[in-house]
Amino acid sequence: MVGNTPIIMRGLNHFFGEGEARKQAIWDVNLALEGGKLTVLMGPSGSGKTTLLTLMGCLRNVQEGSIELMGHELHGASEAVLVRLRRRLGFIFQAHNLHESLTATQNVLMGLEVQGAGDRSKQLAAVHHILGLLGLADRVDYLPQNLSGGQKQRVAVARALVGNPEIIFADEPTAALDKDSGHNVVQMLKALGQSRGVTTVMVTHDNRILELADRVITLEEGRVVGDSKPG
Ligand SMILES: Nc1ncnc2c1ncn2[C@@H]1O[C@H](COP(=O)(O)OP(=O)(O)OP(=O)(O)O)[C@@H](O)[C@H]1O
Ligand SMILES: [Mg+2]
Repeated sequence: MVGNTPIIMRGLNHFFGEGEARKQAIWDVNLALEGGKLTVLMGPSGSGKTTLLTLMGCLRNVQEGSIELMGHELHGASEAVLVRLRRRLGFIFQAHNLHESLTATQNVLMGLEVQGAGDRSKQLAAVHHILGLLGLADRVDYLPQNLSGGQKQRVAVARALVGNPEIIFADEPTAALDKDSGHNVVQMLKALGQSRGVTTVMVTHDNRILELADRVITLEEGRVVGDSKPG
């Protein structure tokens, strides 16, 4: 890692499909993302935002070029290295992906499972603390079917945060939230950056969130066409 730059992409290309159908989705991306900052990815539908996010998040193999994640090269990395790196990351997706048969508490506990067995009462305390911060103290024993869309999304945010990730990747995390709860979630992520140095990379179309971003990167047809600081 160069200084506090947990994500460095160099000459990154990505392709989908084989033979005649092979199509390039990411074109020569070169970006260094600073630690503790909130970076927003914008761009039209199909511009490569999710592809780029999943490449950075070790959810897709790097085909061409380089991504250095927290000092580790992802191109050619072994599955064991990728698994260890993923444990240090948190993911929030547009679809909340909660387990319908588990309560809010049990869903958030899943965010700690990847770290292996621990002291159950400490884990529960951490889960209830984060659910409380997200305004769900009185919903900890609810099943997803009895929660609103915004409440489910906040459970998913709690699950991503409970393991104290170093980097959070979020793909339109506020899409199911009303304006105020969306703003609150992003403000919380930003505060984590300032207090604990957590780095957030977020895809969003929400203009109100841009005000909170430290950096806004715009993609078009798989290329970086804009890189700015709001304000
Ligand atoms: N699994 C896949 N197989 C083939 N093509 C894909 C696949 N995933 C994405 N693509 C293509 O890659 C390009 C970028 O897709 P991507 O999902 O990254 O866009 P996006 O910017 O996230 O769009 P949206 O805002 O609609 O979510 C698109 O042309 C898409 O069709
Ligand atoms: Mg997408």
